[in-house]
Amino acid sequence: SGEVIDKGVTSKGFKITEKDGITYIDGIMVVNKTYSLPSDYGPGKLTADCQAAFNEMQQSAAEDGCTLYVSSGFRSYSLQKSLYERYCARDGKAAADRYSARPGNSEHQTGYAIDLNTIAYSFANTAEGKWVAANCYKYGFILRYPEGKESITAIQYEPWHFRYVGLPHAYYIMQNGLCLEEYIDLVRQHPYGSDPLT
Ligand code: DAL
Ligand code: ZN
Repeated sequence: SGEVIDKGVTSKGFKITEKDGITYIDGIMVVNKTYSLPSDYGPGKLTADCQAAFNEMQQSAAEDGCTLYVSSGFRSYSLQKSLYERYCARDGKAAADRYSARPGNSEHQTGYAIDLNTIAYSFANTAEGKWVAANCYKYGFILRYPEGKESITAIQYEPWHFRYVGLPHAYYIMQNGLCLEEYIDLVRQHPYGSDPLT
């Protein structure tokens, strides 16, 4: 495996690095339309930390009467490729690109992303959807594609898609109403010692 390339430090002291063509911010693997993954990359299932965090979140939700389950977790490059091609055939490339990642650009390939329950906008209005939007950060998850952020994330609002980033990242991101790209830009742009997130 390749060397770790130092890309500097964020305002919170988070390290930005690149290794084997994958970008990390203090250990957060960043995958979007800018940063892709090699086609052979993948843990084959949810990562241990993501799975453990989900289990804990699921148990807390159950105590509040909410049933959470993973509808889609890890997806390989080849599965994402077949999904994306199916969506393109059905809706056309321009429409598909607004809601589906191309192969190599899906967070599902990282093992850190989960689609919960019913993959539909109606999920946002269910007790489960409201519970997870309000509480996910406590378990290190963020709503990855928030409403009104499509111009930044380049993906439409997805109330069902959560990304494990761990704490304190999830706390800052959700408390400040940010998407992951905004968070990364903020911590990159502000000099060490300043606190742009409060
Ligand atoms: N629906 C998300 C963006 C994906 O395909 O990974
Ligand atoms: Zn998803």
